[in-house]
Amino acid sequence: MSVPRTPFPIRSKLPATGTSIFSVMSALAQQYGAVNLGQGFPDYAIDSVLIDLVTAAMRAGHNQYPLSAGVIALREAIAAKVARLYGRAYDPESEVTVTTGATQAIFTTIGALAHPGDEVILFEPAYDSYIPAIRLAGATPVPIPLTAPGYDIDWAAVRRAVTKRTRMILVNTPNNPGTGILSANDLEQFAAVTRGTDIVLVSDEVYEHMIYDGARHESLARNDELAARSVVIGSFGKTFHATGWKVGYTLAPREITAEVRRVHQFTVFTVNSAVQHGLAAFLADPSRYESLPAFFTAKRDLLRAALADAPFDLLPCRGSYFQLATYGRISDEPAAEFAQRLVREFGVATIPLSAFYKDGTDHRVIRFCFAKRDETILAAAERLRRVTIAA
Ligand SMILES: Cc1ncc(COP(=O)(O)O)c(C=O)c1O
Repeated sequence: MSVPRTPFPIRSKLPATGTSIFSVMSALAQQYGAVNLGQGFPDYAIDSVLIDLVTAAMRAGHNQYPLSAGVIALREAIAAKVARLYGRAYDPESEVTVTTGATQAIFTTIGALAHPGDEVILFEPAYDSYIPAIRLAGATPVPIPLTAPGYDIDWAAVRRAVTKRTRMILVNTPNNPGTGILSANDLEQFAAVTRGTDIVLVSDEVYEHMIYDGARHESLARNDELAARSVVIGSFGKTFHATGWKVGYTLAPREITAEVRRVHQFTVFTVNSAVQHGLAAFLADPSRYESLPAFFTAKRDLLRAALADAPFDLLPCRGSYFQLATYGRISDEPAAEFAQRLVREFGVATIPLSAFYKDGTDHRVIRFCFAKRDETILAAAERLRRVTIAA
């Protein structure tokens, strides 16, 4: 017996949401046997020590609900890492919360702090979960374009966008998909724009260790004024190459954390206990995250060198594990069409940047993910070098 059809129309809370471009491109990649540089996840193995630590935690009996805010050993390890890197001492008891990946941290933070009628400023191109999370909270997204092609913040535009109803500003550094990073001056600007207001800053820093050419990650946690009004979000999926494990966290002053935890306890209540114990032990050795900029620099440089003779124009990549390219020498097609043709005709999956704008703004840019095995990067580049320049 099949399931009977629902006899009434469902009023959607996200009527504009269709199949995401990530699903479309991954399905196409599979259909055409393409090399997939589309979705942002590694195709190489994670550290076997981490697997052993998680396995040991399961065998030691860490298989039941842990504390809602997270296993205390992991919260302590996160606090120690953040103090070491950014000089800010978050209290593991009351200011660090473990979440089901950064996605839940973002959703829960927005759900806890943005009220119907509030405005939430965000920067586009933007990670695709931000706007739905804002809408589901009943708040209004106010997207501000980053300045192309460098994808930096236009501070005059931010000052114009702030109103009495602005409740939150959502920022992402290093940026996906823009690959830009915040500077020390940007932190000063955030402080100036929010001073004297009740605006909360939500800083998605999942790519904190993917930062290049000696630049320093300007976490909002570094700045006294900003730390007092910020929720900083991290992800072990990104940091330790295990995107399928979905463990992330929030860092925020205790007043803000208390609100985030009110919603957290009813959205997921707790996060996978054995993985939390494994991560806590793995974090004891700082070289496991401090080696990441060098690891990803090599991947970025390999992709850039391998594409040197391909007819794409590569944009600078200052952070994240993505490389952007324009393709004006090849075609003037919209990015979504061009990306789909790249899969069908050349066997390489990428993501069009137009997918990261609410109104589909299209600067004719595509995104390659270089968190891939060297063989994958080289195989993709070989195919991309066969793309021909328009007559
Ligand atoms: C900017 C950004 N934020 C958050 C996430 C989601 O992180 P997680 O897998 O920990 O939920 C991603 C994943 O691609 C991302 O690119």
